[in-house]
Amino acid sequence: MCGIIGIVGTSTVTERLVDGLKRLEYRGYDSSGVAVLDGGKLIRQRAEGKIKGLVAKLATDHVDGQIGIAHTRWATHGVPNETNAHPHFSGRVGVVHNGIIENFLDIRKELSHRDFRTETDTEVVSHLVDEALSQGLAPKEAFSQSLKKLKGAYAFGVIIDDHPDHIYCARAGSPLALGIGEDEMYLGSDAMALAQLTTKLIYLEEGDWAILTPTSYEIYDVDDNKVERDITILTGGPAMAEKGNYRHFMLKEMYEQPETIGRTLSNYIDEYRLSANVPAELDFSEFDRVIIIACGTACYAGMVAKYWFEQVAGLAVDVDIASEFRYRKPVISPKSLFIAVSQSGETADTLAALRYCKEAGVKTAALVNVMTSTMAREADIALPINAGPEIGVASTKAFTSQLTALASLALAAGTARGMISEDDQKRMATALIKTPRHVKQALRLDKDIEAMAFEFSKSKSAFYLGRGSQVPIAFEGALKLKEISYIHAEGYAAGELKHGPIALIEDGTPVIVLAPYDRLFEKTISNLQEVASRGAHIILITDKEGASHAESMADNMIVLPTSDSFVAPIITTVAVQLLAYHTAVHLGTDVDQPRNLAKSVTVE
Ligand code: M6R
Repeated sequence: MCGIIGIVGTSTVTERLVDGLKRLEYRGYDSSGVAVLDGGKLIRQRAEGKIKGLVAKLATDHVDGQIGIAHTRWATHGVPNETNAHPHFSGRVGVVHNGIIENFLDIRKELSHRDFRTETDTEVVSHLVDEALSQGLAPKEAFSQSLKKLKGAYAFGVIIDDHPDHIYCARAGSPLALGIGEDEMYLGSDAMALAQLTTKLIYLEEGDWAILTPTSYEIYDVDDNKVERDITILTGGPAMAEKGNYRHFMLKEMYEQPETIGRTLSNYIDEYRLSANVPAELDFSEFDRVIIIACGTACYAGMVAKYWFEQVAGLAVDVDIASEFRYRKPVISPKSLFIAVSQSGETADTLAALRYCKEAGVKTAALVNVMTSTMAREADIALPINAGPEIGVASTKAFTSQLTALASLALAAGTARGMISEDDQKRMATALIKTPRHVKQALRLDKDIEAMAFEFSKSKSAFYLGRGSQVPIAFEGALKLKEISYIHAEGYAAGELKHGPIALIEDGTPVIVLAPYDRLFEKTISNLQEVASRGAHIILITDKEGASHAESMADNMIVLPTSDSFVAPIITTVAVQLLAYHTAVHLGTDVDQPRNLAKSVTVE
């Protein structure tokens, strides 16, 4: 999953392409590059690593023109060095690509007479187009015929030597938007990349390809028929999220949570009636099952929702990671509601699962942060979380907003299905309304957690334990720690440890126990004792009541504000986020852009 952008116009493009790349850096930061036509000739500049490397190179060796394409890479095929950085050139053709060409080896064999210079799958595209040009085809035919030979996922931008006013682009499986300007046209992986250039966007549909000139655009569908696509007007302005006085985006985003959760609630909770509001098309009395599909952190939000939907609404829930679901031939009851949970709304596997369920004929919803995303556009119902742009690769505020929205949906389901009393409905709605305040109080523990993280950062591995709806938060705590501090960590259901993993506990092994004072508290504390008696160093995350019962059993304690057990997973999340964050800061890792990761995973 990479980010691409292109401009064809009447003034110079490089600075604006690089600005667009910075907005796309969340998609990958292994290398970046820009190519332009200068006097009709292809030239480029590329650099290994983050975009600042490209900026430094351009400062000493500038390239510019009135037409150009640019790329920020998350490496799939070929190590992340300058040779493998896009744009790739073959003969007259330059290309940037997001996706994976699955049949690239076959095409390489077919074109074995050509000089391949990189280890990438993408290079076959520039060779295919150049080969077709050298056989005498016009650029339009060369491009469209090359597309027919490709299998896999792609969004491309192509420019051609001595063909200065045209960008060719296409999408299948990876998102691509066109932008319409004054005497300029644009292409970009998402709306954010183009937000500083135009407000008029066209989202290409699956299989579409297009030709852009400064004053025109033509769109063709997968069968090469000329088609019209709707123009979307972008609202919200070009503002790119800023770090302000915070050291990292992740820290800022954690601190935004009282506000972002409040915004999510305003979509779903009626503060006067103390009830949940959902779109009219979402009639929970119609469904006999909910299928929640997501990846990573978003999937853990789905796992918490399983507890909520089952307990509050008596509704069966299947939760699965998207990459497994899509190839498993799952049995789907016609009365299922499918919910894709995704911050970006672009995650390739989650999107494929959504399409699978659409084809199966069940109602689909997408719970997303980016309402211009492919999932939001393709699902029957788009459910916003309104957390605002999340820049840190480690998801924080999107997760707590996903939880907030899913809790509200479960509450709406409980009411619609007559499974909860009015008193319970009001109690749960009130608990949700108080959540921003409780999260704010939890954030005040920041300094204490920072101090605790100093010792913790010396650990080689850690365990996170919980029961009930805290189990997915144990998974999430372990994931946060792994992805930003690179310390090995595992989350477990507390009752499961003695079935094997307890063998790993030795003197000083850190075990983070999530145990708010609820009906499972005593059972979790028994599990705490099992590991403590084997030498584990216990960090207990609990609330006031829990602390008064278990103080003597923990080496460190994080005492959160007391909340209704319904929303407790949202509050404990704040503690595991802060612990991971400060551990990573102590270790000096790149918190916002950890190694090997990208914010949005648009390849399988
Ligand atoms: O955009 P999505 O919510 O679909 O992304 C899913 C995962 O890739 C994402 O949650 C990932 O696990 C995060 N890096 C976790 O912090």
